[in-house]
Amino acid sequence: MVLLQLKNIVKDYFLWIQTVNVLKGINLEVQKGEFISIMGHSGSGKSTLMNIIWLLDSTTTGEYFFEWDNVASLDSDQHATIRGQKIGFVFQTYNLIPRKSALEQVMLPLAYQWVPKAERIERATKALEKVWLGHRIANKPNELSGGEQQRVSIARALVINPSIILADEPTGALDSKTGNEIMQMITDLHQEWKTIVLITHEKEIAAYAKRNLYLRDGQFVDKI
Ligand SMILES: Nc1ncnc2c1ncn2[C@@H]1O[C@H](COP(=O)(O)OP(=O)(O)O)[C@@H](O)[C@H]1O
Ligand SMILES: [Mg+2]
Repeated sequence: MVLLQLKNIVKDYFLWIQTVNVLKGINLEVQKGEFISIMGHSGSGKSTLMNIIWLLDSTTTGEYFFEWDNVASLDSDQHATIRGQKIGFVFQTYNLIPRKSALEQVMLPLAYQWVPKAERIERATKALEKVWLGHRIANKPNELSGGEQQRVSIARALVINPSIILADEPTGALDSKTGNEIMQMITDLHQEWKTIVLITHEKEIAAYAKRNLYLRDGQFVDKI
């Protein structure tokens, strides 16, 4: 079953008098339950592509189908709703809020869906237990290691029970041992039939995925 489909996606940035053509015709189909990686050098357009899949950025031209809806034509409020309900995102530098506990960070995506507080607490606690942080739910980011912070961010992605998890260089800020632990955790999620799109510029990290794609200069190529 196809979860998402990108058809001939082009993304240009318009900077004053200059047009920067960042994505040059991207075609991609992701099946439900797939674990794919997208590799490419810095500046190849990986984050731009991820932000389009995440519905944070709009395309210049092209079609985007998410669970059969043509989402390219929706407005930014509708994009935000889909993003909040269906797409979990894991960032390179975690993007946690400084003065909030792990529990509060993970409860937050549910607040946007008007989930009652008792249920928010219950689901956030479960998500934190799933990433082995049940004993750290009261800790703030500065009271957690880098690997633990990334696990909080994985719990925050999971708590909405998303259709897909996007991870943009999730191990980029971690040492290799901790990075491999995070990748093991992501692999476990895949084994529970979560759909995962991972971006990395490291071969060893891409090797965790079941299908590897290569992006060069805004286009998919056979290898890099
Ligand atoms: N908001 C923007 N405005 C103009 N150019 C941008 C913007 N975002 C990214 N770019 C350009 O698009 C190219 C790809 O960027 P990016 O997608 O961040 O690459 P990657 O994640 O692969 O390193 C780069 O040349 C970058 O300078
Ligand atoms: Mg990037």
